[in-house]
Amino acid sequence: MSQSNSNPTAYDKLRGRLVAEPHTWLVTGVAGFIGSNLLETLLKLNQQVVGLDNFATGHRRNLAEVQTLVTPEQWANFHFIEGDIRNLEDCHRAMIFPSADTSLRESGAAVEYVLHEAALGSVPRSLADPVTSNAVNISGFLNMLVASRDAGVKSFTYAASSSTYGDHPALPKVEHTIGKPLSPYAVTKYVNELYADVFARCYGFNTIGLRYFNVFGPRQDPNGAYAAVIPKWIASLMQGEPVYINGDGETSRDFCFIANVVQANLLAAVVKETEAVNQVYNVALGDRTSLNELYAHLRSKLLPHYPHLDEAQPVHRDFRAGDVRHSLADIGKAERLLGYTPTHRIGEGLTLAMPWYIKQRY
Ligand SMILES: NC(=O)c1ccc[n+]([C@@H]2O[C@H](COP(=O)([O-])OP(=O)(O)OC[C@H]3O[C@@H](n4cnc5c(N)ncnc54)[C@H](O)[C@@H]3O)[C@@H](O)[C@H]2O)c1
Repeated sequence: MSQSNSNPTAYDKLRGRLVAEPHTWLVTGVAGFIGSNLLETLLKLNQQVVGLDNFATGHRRNLAEVQTLVTPEQWANFHFIEGDIRNLEDCHRAMIFPSADTSLRESGAAVEYVLHEAALGSVPRSLADPVTSNAVNISGFLNMLVASRDAGVKSFTYAASSSTYGDHPALPKVEHTIGKPLSPYAVTKYVNELYADVFARCYGFNTIGLRYFNVFGPRQDPNGAYAAVIPKWIASLMQGEPVYINGDGETSRDFCFIANVVQANLLAAVVKETEAVNQVYNVALGDRTSLNELYAHLRSKLLPHYPHLDEAQPVHRDFRAGDVRHSLADIGKAERLLGYTPTHRIGEGLTLAMPWYIKQRY
């Protein structure tokens, strides 16, 4: 998909500008799946990055892996703070990349761009424990807004969610048409958008929300009760365990490879046009894949490495509470206002992600 167009995209140009003139970024949730991929890209572009995480669902091994993928000089541009976004003081502390000279700590480089990823993901997790999801995803989000506003950052880009479309049946999903939330998680992500909007109105503080649609890629955790479908199924297939499809398998999603999400974040962080800021954007591909198709994709990509999958069949069970039936994004707004041009379709993304999963031997 990326190779077909030889004209430089907005993202190509942005990466060139960033390398020529490095900036200071804060990535919250930096030890998680999306956060650690943002970190990897930013460090490879020679940016200075503060990372904040409390390891609630993220892992030290993700940070260790990023360290192996960048040079020692680039790694020295990373400052990690173990902290909790529910604690406003931790959020304030994360707004400075400290000077290497400890006597000058307070005069370190101020964070310019905030990429706020920290949250408790997963619809089922929020159904099981809505109170903690609310505290992290809403109070923690508000703390991050306040700390970022007080620090006078240039931009605040946050992880919103396609779950905000809730029960609205229209397809494809267009940003201004949403329904009622179907889970506590969806409520928290919608409240983020409401708070972001109010911070623009009341404090003139600009934000951009990125409504991610089923992101996948290396470092997405396959373990635990709340794992996302792609890593969970990969792990089950590799281990010869049953793969459960909730419902008839014709439920569909707009699966989005992580490289597209990283691109959207960087473009959103630096955009300045008035009509582009204080907006939410779908971040996806605009392609629909059913769960049955996804299963076939994964099985065929793993089969050469795992001959036991020759006979494998999925097990269908009941539909799951809180799940929407279909999800498909209209990505026209992000293309138009951010210059977003997704580079990887699902098949290309799975081809790139698979060696990582095989290497982990889950
Ligand atoms: N992965 C997806 O498909 C998807 C889809 C829509 C939205 N999102 C959103 O994108 C963001 C990142 O998701 P992800 O898939 O990388 O999940 P993840 O669980 O891998 O990463 C989240 C990170 O936030 C950290 N965190 C959680 N609570 C924290 C707290 N109180 N203080 C500090 N750090 C905390 C976790 O330890 C983890 O490292 C989340 O906001 C999520 O809701 C993800």
